[in-house]
Amino acid sequence: MNKIAIIGAGRVGESTAQILAKEELCRELVLLDIHEGMPQGVALDIQESASLLRFDTRVTGATDPAAIAGADIIIVTAGIPRKPGMSRSDVLGTNLSIIDKIVADALEHAPDAMLIMVTNPVDVLTWYAWQKSGWPRHRVFGQSGALDTARMTSFIAMETGYSIKDISALVLGGHGDAMVPLPRFTDIAGIPITHFLSEERIHQINQRTRQGGGEILALKQHSSAYDSPAAAVAIMVDAISHNRRRILPCVSVLDGEYGQHDIAMGVPAVLTETGLTDIIELQLNADEQAAFQASADIVAADIAALR
Ligand code: LAC
Repeated sequence: MNKIAIIGAGRVGESTAQILAKEELCRELVLLDIHEGMPQGVALDIQESASLLRFDTRVTGATDPAAIAGADIIIVTAGIPRKPGMSRSDVLGTNLSIIDKIVADALEHAPDAMLIMVTNPVDVLTWYAWQKSGWPRHRVFGQSGALDTARMTSFIAMETGYSIKDISALVLGGHGDAMVPLPRFTDIAGIPITHFLSEERIHQINQRTRQGGGEILALKQHSSAYDSPAAAVAIMVDAISHNRRRILPCVSVLDGEYGQHDIAMGVPAVLTETGLTDIIELQLNADEQAAFQASADIVAADIAALR
């Protein structure tokens, strides 16, 4: 990748920029924000760490949308975060108008870019950005499954004491409390999770995963999670910039897959240098399919309100 733009120099934007710069996932990184001085300050701070962390990425900040010109990837983190007690859908109204402006800027200044949506409610806003931009779905997708799966993986590592490197988990569905952790597709070193944990413990891990974002917000009170969300975005960018063909759960626009149409939500997808090129369809059992449908119904209700 030559150039990546991060829209929103808040906590998720800044943390994402730090990782992308340090990992040298692009030559040029631009942080864009509406608050004059903020993106420039964040960018300069990160840039000044370059000689210590040994990276060549050039990091700049701007308030003029023209600064995103020529970006290969635009990562959208701008928006208001939820406060304790709010659901991700509660911030939809405010964040919609922010996305309108960002999509307009992308169309004008970087019409060939990929959009990676991070702002919540991410499923609805991914669908919205896809609609508004008119871009094909392989260039408009969102982050949530990489984070939700990372949380589930962490909880399994904490519970079993085994290396997190050997744990592979999977969480699908919308990025809300109805998300769908899939223990049947979860293993430690290829050994099914049921070998290590009782049904009861697995159930508790699923519950904690569903409420993972809320758990951190309740603890911190004044901020949602940002380190792990940023790492999740970075892993997606790494897959794209290295054309790895990694299979990661991503917020994807569905066109018949999993029985869903005209919606965006988390499913396993293949990330390549041209974006989200394939969706992997799993054979879900009846319970899993019912949970996936319940999650889809919640996302669809928010989308219906926008039509
Ligand atoms: C979370 C928020 C950022 O899951 O959606 O932490």
